[in-house]
Amino acid sequence: MKKFKILHKSFSKPISCLTAYSPSIAKILDGKVDLILVGDSLGSALYGMKNTQGVTMDMMKSHGAVVNKEIKKSLKVLDMPYKTYDNKIDAYRNAKILLYHCKPDLLKIEINEKKLVVLKHLVDKKINVISHIGVTPQSYKNFNKIKVLGRTNKEKQSLLKLAKKSETLGAKAVLLECITTDTAKLITENISIPTIGIGASRYCNGQILVFDDLINLSTNDKKPRFVKNYFNFNKIVGNVVKKYNKEVKLKKFPSSKFSYY
Ligand code: KIV
Repeated sequence: MKKFKILHKSFSKPISCLTAYSPSIAKILDGKVDLILVGDSLGSALYGMKNTQGVTMDMMKSHGAVVNKEIKKSLKVLDMPYKTYDNKIDAYRNAKILLYHCKPDLLKIEINEKKLVVLKHLVDKKINVISHIGVTPQSYKNFNKIKVLGRTNKEKQSLLKLAKKSETLGAKAVLLECITTDTAKLITENISIPTIGIGASRYCNGQILVFDDLINLSTNDKKPRFVKNYFNFNKIVGNVVKKYNKEVKLKKFPSSKFSYY
């Protein structure tokens, strides 16, 4: 498929990726970035959860389905939620449900040594998978405990091993979260599938950010170092809301232009 060309290492430009959880945002992003992820970060971003462990299949199914309808050009990726791919049988059963309802091009799963069998099983069943390694948020109840990985040689080598195994087992790309610059560079230079980074330096083949972080729409005041706000939604929309409130109080809104006769 043409869209998949961005996942070939020979694709000359870095891969741009953002998350979307709603149809309106998906419509804006479609075709403007290479890849759109319905991430389970929707647990905290939309549902106010403290971590992603409470995200359910139903949530991913409904957000995945409505987002899918709006994406025509970008590659569509969907996260499998916590505890839905603990073993091969569950993983395949749940993957089929998500593929049926949301029709993503790829599924993303968080990988450690133990989950490699699941990755292999899904690939054997002809499912396109992105392997998410480094900091894997589904393993954390408390996000404050997250620390950057790859600082020690042991961590660096085990991340490299995991990335190489993901490639050998047939993952289409590896997502690297919160790892040191030299580890991201080492991995990117030593595998032939693309790396997509979040907090993993410019040496990755692509970059992803949570859309809400990009526009500063988050309720969380403490932002990770890797988040760059490109737009101050809180401030700008806050001013618009104040203006609306004032017009209502002054009976300026609705004027006759906005009324029926
Ligand atoms: O759930 C998500 O949004 C993600 C990104 C942080 C990459 O996995």
